[in-house]
Amino acid sequence: MDTTTTLHTGNLPQHLAIIMDGNGRWAKKKGMLRIFGHENGTKAVRETVESCARLGIGYLTLYAFSTENWNRPKMEVDTLMNLLVSSLEKELPTLQKNSIKLNTIGNTAMLPDGARKKLLDVIEQTKGNTRMTLTLALSYGSREEIISAVKKISEKVQNNQLNIADISESVIGAHLYTHDLPDVDLVIRTSGEQRISNFLLWQVAYAELYFTEVLWPDFREKDLHEALISYQKRERRFGKTSEQVK
Ligand code: FPP
Repeated sequence: MDTTTTLHTGNLPQHLAIIMDGNGRWAKKKGMLRIFGHENGTKAVRETVESCARLGIGYLTLYAFSTENWNRPKMEVDTLMNLLVSSLEKELPTLQKNSIKLNTIGNTAMLPDGARKKLLDVIEQTKGNTRMTLTLALSYGSREEIISAVKKISEKVQNNQLNIADISESVIGAHLYTHDLPDVDLVIRTSGEQRISNFLLWQVAYAELYFTEVLWPDFREKDLHEALISYQKRERRFGKTSEQVK
């Protein structure tokens, strides 16, 4: 067994996607309201974004708000939207300093006006940055994304802009919200839950999955490194044999 415990800078995932889970349980354990967990979750977001940029990970995608999260109590939804706006305001200098480009995926038309405007503003201000692309999945659901892609492709077929025979993986990929992102290499989910929860279903086809018991507000750089070390020990075969990929 490979017992390496240090991270090396080669063979890092090009695209890391994180399901940030456990904010509510973290707060409950402390006898606090769920929103206290979300507030502290923003600290883990900042630390993770900076660590990934430092390491040279090109694409980081964070599952910040799912289509299903709209069903949470109004106060919690409002708090999450306010946290989004305040974090974007506060972190803009950090994004600029580290040359991080902000991107978003999801049905962002659903967001309250203030949050959508702030998001578009920061996306515009950071569009020339090249070190890392930080994608926030907001009002995001993978099935909805796939349905939207199928509709766009069907329209093109109906208008004779596309032949059915030409529908390929790359055509489908080009109609997803993630059309300008590479496939996901590694998914990290915190809080001990071991499921994908409607996150990037098409894009994780060959991703490695890493689950940790750590609750999101407690997720620190050392936890990120542990996940990356685990990734570096794996052999990604993409359906081939071990001998073929060596
Ligand atoms: C999951 O924990 C977390 C969320 C639904 C929201 C994630 C949001 C943040 C980390 C803060 C804001 C983010 C940005 C990008 C500024 P949960 O509430 O489902 O926790 P539980 O499973 O313990 O109840």
